Amino acid sequence: MANLGITKYGAEVLRKVAEPVEEINEKIMQIASDMLDTLYASEGVGIAAPQIGISKRIIIVDTNPSDASSKPIVLINPEIVEKDGIMNAEEGCLSVPEVRGDVKRAEKVVVEGLDLEGNKVRIEGTELLARVFQHEIDHLNGTLFVDHLSKLRQQLLKNHLRKIERGQVK
Ligand code: CO
Repeated sequence: MANLGITKYGAEVLRKVAEPVEEINEKIMQIASDMLDTLYASEGVGIAAPQIGISKRIIIVDTNPSDASSKPIVLINPEIVEKDGIMNAEEGCLSVPEVRGDVKRAEKVVVEGLDLEGNKVRIEGTELLARVFQHEIDHLNGTLFVDHLSKLRQQLLKNHLRKIERGQVK
């Protein structure tokens, strides 16, 4: 169990298409455990394995981390199988500190994947849950939320992103 710290903007692993998990073995369980510790230490609502430097298709989502009864959703090889509607809301990312911006996402998604026991799961998410699913699955495809911002906004963020790359923003 360890908080591994969050991989930041500029790291190559965040731009790779992550590898599917072939077998849910002890190594995968350990990665999930480390992701969970890192997520809670960072006070985020979701994390993808590339954010701890591991290019595997694993995400964890917990949209209500301060509520002890809220259970984190761990998904292996998650895929969005249905999308509906459009919503625009502000987003941020643990890998892109101090940056927030409006991102258009589907209002409702249905996600399929495996749980840690290898069972097939199908989860419908709306509002924040839908948003976090889309954000985290983007991470597995090498996409960051800043890629969805307007060209102008990206231009204005250039210097800040460069600072993150250089390790000048914690
Ligand atoms: Co993120």
